[in-house]
Amino acid sequence: MKKRAVERIPADLKADFFWSDKVNTGQILDLSENGFLVKTELCPAIKAKFDLNINLNNDILKIPVKVRRVVKKDTICDAVGVEIINPPREYLEYVETLRWDRIKGIKTNGQLIKLYVCSVCHHIAFDHAPVNCPICSSTIESFEKAPDAIKKPDNFYELSEFEKKHIPAIKVVKENGYINAHVTVGEIDHEMNIDDHITYIDFYYNAPFIHKKCISRMSFNCEKMHPSATLRLDNVSQGVLTVISNCTAHGNWLAKVTF
Ligand SMILES: [Fe+2]
Repeated sequence: MKKRAVERIPADLKADFFWSDKVNTGQILDLSENGFLVKTELCPAIKAKFDLNINLNNDILKIPVKVRRVVKKDTICDAVGVEIINPPREYLEYVETLRWDRIKGIKTNGQLIKLYVCSVCHHIAFDHAPVNCPICSSTIESFEKAPDAIKKPDNFYELSEFEKKHIPAIKVVKENGYINAHVTVGEIDHEMNIDDHITYIDFYYNAPFIHKKCISRMSFNCEKMHPSATLRLDNVSQGVLTVISNCTAHGNWLAKVTF
C-alpha cells in the first residue's frame, strides 16, 4: 500500500511506555496521523511493538506503535521514530484539530501560523506579510490579516461532495529527475460557471536552504479551462508543496503534501 505523505506537526507532549521491564518516560517532539518522534533515554529495538500512553485532554490514550528508526547521539539513545498501528479515532480527531488550528492562526504548542491576504490579487501569505506580493507585486500595505481566509472542512476524514469539489487533489510523481505535481480541483471536478468557478490555483514550494519563496499561480478565466495544472520542480528531491484553490463563490481551500 502506498504510504500517505503527511506533514509532521511540532509537539511537546509527555508520553510513557513499558519496555525492558519498566515504565519509560518520553517527550513527543513531532507527530502526524501516522507516527511520532519520541525523545527518550531508552530506545527499543527497530520493529519493537508497544503501547505509547499519551495524555490528551486529561484522558490517557493508549496508542499501539512500532519502532521505525532510532536516533542516537554519540552512540547514546536520543529519540525513536515510531509508526502508529491503527490510530484511534480520538487521536485522529486531535491531529485534525491541531492542523486546522495551525492554519487558522491559533497558538498550539508554541507554533503559530498567521494568514495575510493581498487585497489586490487575493494571494494568501503564511506567517507574515511579504514586502511585495509574489503574484501582483503590491507592497506590504496591501496585505491584511485574515484568520478565516481558508475554509475548513467539517470533517477532514469524511469530506462532503461540496468539499471534494473545492479542496485541491495533489498527485506528486517523480519523473526523469523532475518532481511533477499534478493538481486538480478537486477530487470531484468543480464546475466552471460564470458565477461559480475556480479562478486560480496558487502553489507554494518550501524546503530547507532555499533563499527565496517558490510561489506560482495558474489562472483560469473561462469555462473552457479545466481547473487543473501541473507544476514541474527542477533540482529538488524533497520538500512541502502547499496548494490553494480559489472559488469565486466559495472561497479558498488548501491541500498540502510532503514528498
Ligand atoms: Fe465553488
